[in-house]
Amino acid sequence: MSQFTHAPVMLAESLAYLRPQAAMSMLDATVGLGGHAEAILRSIGPRGRIVCLDRDPEALARSERRLREVLFEQGWPQQCVEMVHTPFGEFWELSTDARFDGILLDLGVSSMQLDDGTRGFSFRSDAPLDMRMDPTEGESAAELISRVSETELARILWQYGEEKHSRRIARWIVERRDSDPVQTTQQLADLIRRAYPPAQRHGATHPATQSFQAIRIAVNGELDALERFLGGAPDHLTPGGRIAVLSYHSLEDRIVKRSFVSGEGVCVCPPNFPVCGCGAVRKVRVLTRKPVLPAPGEIESNPRSRSARLRVAEGACYNPARVEAPTV
Ligand SMILES: C[S@@+](CC[C@H](N)C(=O)[O-])C[C@H]1O[C@@H](n2cnc3c(N)ncnc32)[C@H](O)[C@@H]1O
Repeated sequence: MSQFTHAPVMLAESLAYLRPQAAMSMLDATVGLGGHAEAILRSIGPRGRIVCLDRDPEALARSERRLREVLFEQGWPQQCVEMVHTPFGEFWELSTDARFDGILLDLGVSSMQLDDGTRGFSFRSDAPLDMRMDPTEGESAAELISRVSETELARILWQYGEEKHSRRIARWIVERRDSDPVQTTQQLADLIRRAYPPAQRHGATHPATQSFQAIRIAVNGELDALERFLGGAPDHLTPGGRIAVLSYHSLEDRIVKRSFVSGEGVCVCPPNFPVCGCGAVRKVRVLTRKPVLPAPGEIESNPRSRSARLRVAEGACYNPARVEAPTV
């Protein structure tokens, strides 16, 4: 159980932007193994509160143990920490009135999920083809691959993996899956390699890398959840509260960037309109026009951080209850 670790990515940069201080109320929407959450908890102290979410029950149990140990060691009250087993995309429906001084989203999978050979996230070990972050809910990758049409599979590989051979791989898999159902990570990785043009099968990156990412994103509905969470987040920030998002591929980063920009509520009315009629409402101020990248030293010591991008926005003095319908 305890062999898994996860080095929190861009910890110093995330804390510098979130500025957790005594008595603040914080949300870690992807607590994982609790590296960021522990540092936040130590900064907010016994009068602060951190709510931690994860859809993976095992990650949640591990990080809860870690955070409760801090409370025990410091003699701080148990109410400082609240753990919630939920996909973050559904959290605002559960907590309509919640307000936070800081929100952290550290997207994607944890090292624990990747390194646990039984979860089926990686083709580096052979395992049942699962890939669910919450193994108690929804459809596994094997079930998804056995169900979807060739066109749908090609769309998933193209849209979520930007896989240039998406149609070829989808055709190859669909033609073979009835006689030989795809049930393990190795089976899928081998099929994808064989679907690739022979000259491209043995490059530095395994041909299945992008397809595995794509199927994982589809199985977990990752991009929809991100859009839903970010869409609601500004209404749950205190004025001046901050949201920091660490993303790991361009699809996520694009959603974060667009959501922050749209939260700025830039008026798109023609310049000669006397009154704003487009309904733009400024909910956030973007603090990072360009994403912040990990320092070379971090990439060297933790190669999994190399694709990280950090974007941060600050809640504007905005009260959703007082926004009135725009008058044209
Ligand atoms: C990169 S890890 C977080 C690592 C964490 N910051 C740490 O320091 O240990 C991402 C975590 O987010 C969780 N996760 C991903 N998508 C989620 C979602 N939609 N809802 C809730 N948790 C999610 C994963 O299960 C995983 O544990």
